[in-house]
Amino acid sequence: MQKNTTQKILITGANGQLGSEIADALAIRFGTNNIITTDISINSNPDKKFKFEKLDVMDFDTLVQLVKKYYITQIYHLAAILSAKGESNTQIAWKINMDGLLNVLEVARIFNLNKVFWPSSIAIFGPTSPKEHTPQHTITEPETNYGISKHAGELWCKYYFEKYGVDVRSLRYPGIIGYKSMPGGGTTDYAVEVFHKAINNESFVCFLEKETCLPMMFMPDAIKATLQLMEEKKENISIRTSYNIQGMSFSPEEIIAEIKKYHPEFLVTYQPDFRQKIAEAWPSKIEDKIAKKDWNWKPDFNLKKMVKEMIIQLEVQKKDWIKEGVL
Ligand SMILES: NC(=O)c1ccc[n+]([C@@H]2O[C@H](COP(=O)([O-])OP(=O)(O)OC[C@H]3O[C@@H](n4cnc5c(N)ncnc54)[C@H](O)[C@@H]3O)[C@@H](O)[C@H]2O)c1
Repeated sequence: MQKNTTQKILITGANGQLGSEIADALAIRFGTNNIITTDISINSNPDKKFKFEKLDVMDFDTLVQLVKKYYITQIYHLAAILSAKGESNTQIAWKINMDGLLNVLEVARIFNLNKVFWPSSIAIFGPTSPKEHTPQHTITEPETNYGISKHAGELWCKYYFEKYGVDVRSLRYPGIIGYKSMPGGGTTDYAVEVFHKAINNESFVCFLEKETCLPMMFMPDAIKATLQLMEEKKENISIRTSYNIQGMSFSPEEIIAEIKKYHPEFLVTYQPDFRQKIAEAWPSKIEDKIAKKDWNWKPDFNLKKMVKEMIIQLEVQKKDWIKEGVL
């Protein structure tokens, strides 16, 4: 069989909040046929737009088979157990987050893959890191299972790049806000859930204190950063752990005040739970001058612009669902 010379991209965790949107963005660049989506769960990808294979990222042999079967040249490794969910499944979360990454890096080394993308997180920072304008290189003493796995993962990426030349690139995503899918168990999930409650005229119970300010990013900016990083010339990539990137920063009371401009009757109460402690240990604003310098990073959305777009898009979605009888 003739080897396909175009890029063939395999995405792990493709049914998740980021995977579903990154797949669409990559399809525009590389063509739908060149995107192979995979996930441990098979209940997504309803329109069958992309080729889908069931893959548990801890299963090295199946990963190898898929890389061979589709002549994969790049992997976007998104499968993970996120910060809040990871606290109640400590052993399994660590295994998925670490073994999954090591399997992908090993496959990239063996098959000499062109590039790998793997997201890290602001969760690599901890209570001893500077809270404001947290620098790229600083004290990192994460306190969550998830944060420890991301921190270790960053060092593994650097190791595979330096020792084996694997071109693995990474971003320390902040909390990601999007309208197309629900988040999967992170500490910043409230910032998506709050919109769904407001749009459906329901009250909202916030699991963080009203003044807890965290770094966040609108999905289109997260996609833009990811593709920009992956398309940058190799010699310009100076960070081989993971890049700090800043989008916007806000607290629950700030985003709710902005949403109330559209839904003045929106009722919110605060009942902080275990996620408050996680959030308190994270930075409130990230310093990202190296990403700006290396690959020209600049977000398009601030809080005001993001809230407006979220409300417009969710209203459209709600009307469609009512028309289709989903609601
Ligand atoms: N969403 C955010 O706010 C955020 C912030 C920082 C970093 N990240 C990182 O981005 C990546 C994607 O996050 P997301 O928000 O899309 O998460 P998500 O929870 O929405 O999706 C993760 C996907 O991984 C799949 N998965 C879980 N275990 C698996 C396994 N063993 N094998 C294969 N698939 C498995 C799940 O079924 C799910 O579809 C993760 O690495 C996450 O740590 C996300």
